[in-house]
Amino acid sequence: MSETLEFTADVEKETAPLYERVKSVIPEFEWRMHAPYIAAINRLKKEKGAVILAHNYQTPEIFHCVSDFAGDSLQLAREAAKTDAQIIVQAGVHFMAETSKILSPDKTVLIPDMQAGCSLASSITGADVRLLRERFPGVPIVTYVNTSAEVKAESDICCTSSNAVDVVESLGVDRVFMIPDQYLAKNVAKQTKVEILTWAGSCEVHERFTADDIRAFRKSHPGVVVLAHPECPPEVVEEADFAGSTSAMIGYVEDKRPKRVVMVTECSMSDNVAASLPDVDFVRPCNLCPHMKRITLPKILHSLQTMTHEVHVDPVIAVRARQAVENMLKVGSPKARALAA
Ligand code: 13P
Ligand code: SF4
Repeated sequence: MSETLEFTADVEKETAPLYERVKSVIPEFEWRMHAPYIAAINRLKKEKGAVILAHNYQTPEIFHCVSDFAGDSLQLAREAAKTDAQIIVQAGVHFMAETSKILSPDKTVLIPDMQAGCSLASSITGADVRLLRERFPGVPIVTYVNTSAEVKAESDICCTSSNAVDVVESLGVDRVFMIPDQYLAKNVAKQTKVEILTWAGSCEVHERFTADDIRAFRKSHPGVVVLAHPECPPEVVEEADFAGSTSAMIGYVEDKRPKRVVMVTECSMSDNVAASLPDVDFVRPCNLCPHMKRITLPKILHSLQTMTHEVHVDPVIAVRARQAVENMLKVGSPKARALAA
């Protein structure tokens, strides 16, 4: 890992405009630790012509101060497909880096920590999907992007939480498999006439929320607007005022500017939005994703310095996985459709 860097007067001056963006969510003593890494990363990134793609769940010092692009899973996939940079550093989890590699096979894709996994991605294997095909011949398989390249390769089409209903309906059939998130599948099933079969996977962050939690937020914070991610169990989504992907939730707060809001999702996201919307009061239940939190500034710097850890995808698997991801991208940008509660 890289050496400890000093908070010098030059670093302070260089990073002052960035601190302005995040000072409402990062205390000064913490900034003194982050700033030297931010300065070093931004310098090295420029030197190497690299881009940093960050998921909305990254911490504010990554999201606001070193990322070139931040977004939800679908936006990150689109960005990876179109960037001109030769080096992509994925500030997110492994399946996101694999998706970038699948879409940009000639580029170097780095992930600062190889252990940054996902409970959904580890809930299913390519062999499981082959078994589903054998048992349910002819039923198309829609696979959440939160899966390995091998699982994507066995699928007809991918989806994310922002386009899942559109993807399911694009197939023009009565019955589909939607794997591996049982809760996303159940939430989508309420929005369409298509019969949805699913798998028993779940997100370890969102499955912890309960309908009682939402009722408790409303009781303790009267008037609070509740936004939930569709990886939450359906009874949680039913209690919410709005449900949508991470970027759809951010869009809701930016457009509607509720006085007080709770985002029922990974908690770094509230910090990221709160940093730019000081007039909104965020109630913050803190469920952290341990995988997303493996990505830190020192690891991003180390990744750029040493060009590690490079993500590789078997070319045969990559071609088939790419087809499933491209099929999804062809469905187009999501309509202004929320997985309404
Ligand atoms: P989205 O950003 O696509 O909503 O996904 C949320 C998530 O849990 C990613 O791991
Ligand atoms: Fe996976 Fe959930 Fe973490 Fe997203 S928040 S990476 S779905 S475990």
